[in-house]
Amino acid sequence: MRVVIAGGHGKIALLLERLLAGRGDQAVGLIRNPAHVADVHKAGAGAVICDLEAASADDVAVLLSGADAVVLAAGAGPGSGAPRRDSVDRAASVLMADAAERTGVRRFVQVSSMGAGRPPRPGSDEVWAAYITAKTAAEADLRARDLDWTIVRPGGLTDAPGTGRIRLAPPPVPGGTVPRADVAAARMLPRQVA
Ligand SMILES: NC(=O)c1ccc[n+]([C@@H]2O[C@H](COP(=O)([O-])OP(=O)(O)OC[C@H]3O[C@@H](n4cnc5c(N)ncnc54)[C@H](OP(=O)(O)O)[C@@H]3O)[C@@H](O)[C@H]2O)c1
Repeated sequence: MRVVIAGGHGKIALLLERLLAGRGDQAVGLIRNPAHVADVHKAGAGAVICDLEAASADDVAVLLSGADAVVLAAGAGPGSGAPRRDSVDRAASVLMADAAERTGVRRFVQVSSMGAGRPPRPGSDEVWAAYITAKTAAEADLRARDLDWTIVRPGGLTDAPGTGRIRLAPPPVPGGTVPRADVAAARMLPRQVA
């Protein structure tokens, strides 16, 4: 199975790349910084330079050729202001989904966030509100598409070792933290795509 991971040098992405390589699947990480190529290779994946805030859906569609699945693991990250919450957390998902539709890649996993799916609480920090608004919009975009999508909404991510004990459940789910390793290991991608 060939899996293209948007945000291929992210912490969850690198863990997922290792897992996919370990089970014999081919992962390709889309990254924007050439200095990250070596890390992605070390995780057992291929690396392709693609700035998700600059690429067009046609550009990305070329990169998805032959893929069985797309994972959206990109995020603007800590320290980013409200505009990048929109240009990455929302728009990169829309871009990848547009490209997936153009290429006929049906399987799409989106890493969203707990708190998405409803408006930010009144009085929320501006950047947090922009983040939740962006994630909510990205989810709504994906839900409206004729793709085989899965949306996961992890709570606060930690770098603790994976427990192998997480349970996926529909909302509402009480807040909490979860190791990135457990999110990466959640069975979001079947061994075989039908
Ligand atoms: N932090 C939390 O507690 C939390 C909770 C729930 C959900 N989430 C979500 O979970 C997802 C994965 O989290 P994580 O901690 O693994 O993420 P991460 O380590 O912050 O990685 C995000 C990746 O996205 C990449 N990226 C950003 N802008 C890009 C662009 N224009 N083009 C290409 N790549 C770009 C970053 O690359 P650069 O290094 O080049 O910037 C980075 O490698 C994110 O969507 C995040 O919002 C986070």
